[in-house]
Amino acid sequence: MRDYTRLFSPLSVGPLTFRNRIVMPPMVANMQVGSDQAHSWYVARARGGVGLIIREATAIRRLADPVFTGKLKRTVDAVHRAGAAMAVQLMEWGRAASSETIAASATDNAREATEAELLELIGLYAKAAKECRRVGFDGVEPHGAHGYFLNQFFSPVSNRRADAFGGSVEKRMEMALRIVRAIREAVDENCIILYRHTPRGEGYSLGNSRKFAGQLEKAGVDILDVSPSTSSSQAPRADMAGALKEVVAIPVIAVGGFGRDLGGAESVLEQGRADLIAIGRGLIADPELPNKLYHSREIIECKECNEKCFGNLRKGTPIGCAQNEASGREYLYIDAE
Ligand SMILES: Cc1cc2nc3c(=O)[nH]c(=O)nc-3n(C[C@H](O)[C@H](O)[C@H](O)COP(=O)(O)O)c2cc1C
Repeated sequence: MRDYTRLFSPLSVGPLTFRNRIVMPPMVANMQVGSDQAHSWYVARARGGVGLIIREATAIRRLADPVFTGKLKRTVDAVHRAGAAMAVQLMEWGRAASSETIAASATDNAREATEAELLELIGLYAKAAKECRRVGFDGVEPHGAHGYFLNQFFSPVSNRRADAFGGSVEKRMEMALRIVRAIREAVDENCIILYRHTPRGEGYSLGNSRKFAGQLEKAGVDILDVSPSTSSSQAPRADMAGALKEVVAIPVIAVGGFGRDLGGAESVLEQGRADLIAIGRGLIADPELPNKLYHSREIIECKECNEKCFGNLRKGTPIGCAQNEASGREYLYIDAE
């Protein structure tokens, strides 16, 4: 039988100790914030044994509002009681205060964000992080991946700015680095900062990302979450995580398809190509995956059919799993506390 010693070894990061190396990556669940359904969704996965949960992408403007953030406290507390750490992904979709759509540079659907708007957004990231900390999150993760607003700044294709935020690869890092520094200044030293980055993107190479990784670490990032584009048909995952891990001293998360390849996850850790393993769809299929793996019990396996996870995400309805009727309906069978 396969041995999962490394997957189940704890990892200390700053003041935190994760009980194992399994991370639930951020996944928009389309469940109403503060509802029993959304609450039970996360609590079930914490009770299922995961080490760290990163709450789904959540708009910084919402998180900066204490009334909104207050609605998340019940879940953070319950996740902690279940023995898992919990961070939250900080998301900016590219929305100006005026509600116009903005982007790093103009597109067919968006105008270029002004410098003043970028400075306002940097402040909002910091404010959101502070609010998240107030309600007990262990850390925050700016979403710098998958071609969204923040990732656009790193790409020379989507970022054609001529100011401090665009031009050379160094300037294309500027938005992210200022956000990380602003968060670092706003929160206490025990707050963990993660950063999610797509290692190879439009017009930029893994080499550019290696430079970026070093700068993110210097700016105050504690964990680098290396997420190849979700639309990528290959699974380059651990190779890319490994390439970035070589240039930083902070822990690195490898992402992509590990729910169906738990032996591969153990090997990646064994080979030192990553320190933590994200299991997304695998945990949608079976919230108890970590505990079942540990006790050699049968796991409900994700088949990567994407029907009720990515499928429902696109439809705007709560996510679930074609392999498991109970996924997304945890509120029916767990005590909501
Ligand atoms: C329903 C769904 C929602 C997702 N939402 C987010 C998100 O909010 N932020 C993010 O960075 N990635 C998001 N992702 C991508 C996952 O975090 C993860 O990177 C991806 O599913 C690959 O990992 P896996 O093969 O273990 O599922 C989402 C994925 C799914 C299936």
